[in-house]
Amino acid sequence: MAKKKEAGYLSGKEIRAISKANRKITGEMEKKWKRKNVPEEEYLTTMRDPANAVEFDDLHTYFFTDAGTVKSVDGVSFDVPIGKTVGVVGESGCGKSVTSLSLMQLLQRPQGQIVSGHIRLNLGSKAYDISQITQERMQKLRGNAVSMIFQEPMTSLNPVFRIGDQVDEVIELHDGEGKSKEEIKARTIKALEMVGIANSEGVYSMFPHELSGGMRQRIVIAMALACNPKVIIADEPTTALDVTIQAQILDLLRDLKDKINSSIMLITHDLGVIAEMADYVVVMYAGRVIEKGTAEDIFYHPAHPYTIGLMASKPVVGREVDELYSIPGKVPNPINMPDYCYFRDRCEMRLPCCDGEYPCEISLSDTHKVSCYRAYEAYRDLVEQSAKNPLLAQMQAAAGELKEGGEKGGEI
Ligand SMILES: Nc1ncnc2c1ncn2[C@@H]1O[C@H](COP(=O)(O)OP(=O)(O)OP(=O)(O)O)[C@@H](O)[C@H]1O
Ligand code: SF4
Ligand SMILES: [Mg+2]
Repeated sequence: MAKKKEAGYLSGKEIRAISKANRKITGEMEKKWKRKNVPEEEYLTTMRDPANAVEFDDLHTYFFTDAGTVKSVDGVSFDVPIGKTVGVVGESGCGKSVTSLSLMQLLQRPQGQIVSGHIRLNLGSKAYDISQITQERMQKLRGNAVSMIFQEPMTSLNPVFRIGDQVDEVIELHDGEGKSKEEIKARTIKALEMVGIANSEGVYSMFPHELSGGMRQRIVIAMALACNPKVIIADEPTTALDVTIQAQILDLLRDLKDKINSSIMLITHDLGVIAEMADYVVVMYAGRVIEKGTAEDIFYHPAHPYTIGLMASKPVVGREVDELYSIPGKVPNPINMPDYCYFRDRCEMRLPCCDGEYPCEISLSDTHKVSCYRAYEAYRDLVEQSAKNPLLAQMQAAAGELKEGGEKGGEI
């Protein structure tokens, strides 16, 4: 029994107690979410900077499970400026999707809840705080103001309906008031043409299984952009595609974003995709943002050992290495996070001071921020001594090469 306890074993009684406490917490949140006819003033807000399309401000999104509370997003803050692409990168399970699903209010309810913080969405004439909004209002915003492209197109397409009917339905639902069937069809055909589909009339009456993976992803993009959203969330939009089709889809996204003047939040594991597409980069680790800045800040001057390690672990065409670097160890358990730097147990550049509490965010410039003791002024001498570390030099060189590869459009 003692052994089981050490391994995180919970008795039936403990699980029942956790489950009861969870129901109490989530029940109240669900009640607030499902209220009807709530005056807009309750979720109206003001943007910190009107040039931003979205502002995540100290967002905490948790899942209340029977095994305990999973702190999937634990104090995330970053901005998505209007007309720009923000790349969100980090290894599996670091909270990228949960951050974007919080913005869409598509969390798996009732377990998944935004427990604190704000998500400000700029609608031009006014701004809404998505963390305070109700289900009723959110249904009208989804697809209109903010829409999402998922990794696997078949999760968004229904196999038993024709393509035309599915795109028509999106337009009808979000922007169909006062439009005849013919007008809606004309909009659908235009949307299919906009995403580069030849023979759009023919594709209009096809089923999803008759199309290739790249074509299906184009359809999904057409559906996401049909109502000119202000923000497009693309969660691993090209991971299921071959490299050549991937390049075409990324080009398409870039062109369309400029055409409708939207912002893109691009979530990916692939630093090559980020290097090619993003104006700003946010690096997440274990539910927190550990570094953020312009693409140039992150690729040419990476400051956090995790960011540097991520870049060094990416193969670059033309760079010969005996052995590709891999970050040792694994991510801590999200139910039981340590009270010191979450990366400490894997960090090959840690300093004696790293046993202290979680490092706060330090500004390296107006745009570049990092949460690491190495950026603290007080530890500059310690860092300078360790700067001779050959591993650090090798990793920083790899980061620069990766960006150059991306800028040349090279395969990474
Ligand atoms: N429905 C859920 N119930 C419990 N935990 C969840 C749920 N959805 C996500 N999580 C947890 O939240 C954390 C963040 O998950 P998320 O899906 O955001 O990761 P991610 O960064 O998108 O990973 P990937 O790159 O693999 O898509 C993970 O620890 C995950 O296990
Ligand atoms: S704070 Fe210390 S342990 Fe954490 S990433 Fe920075 S150097 Fe490594
Ligand atoms: Mg994900």
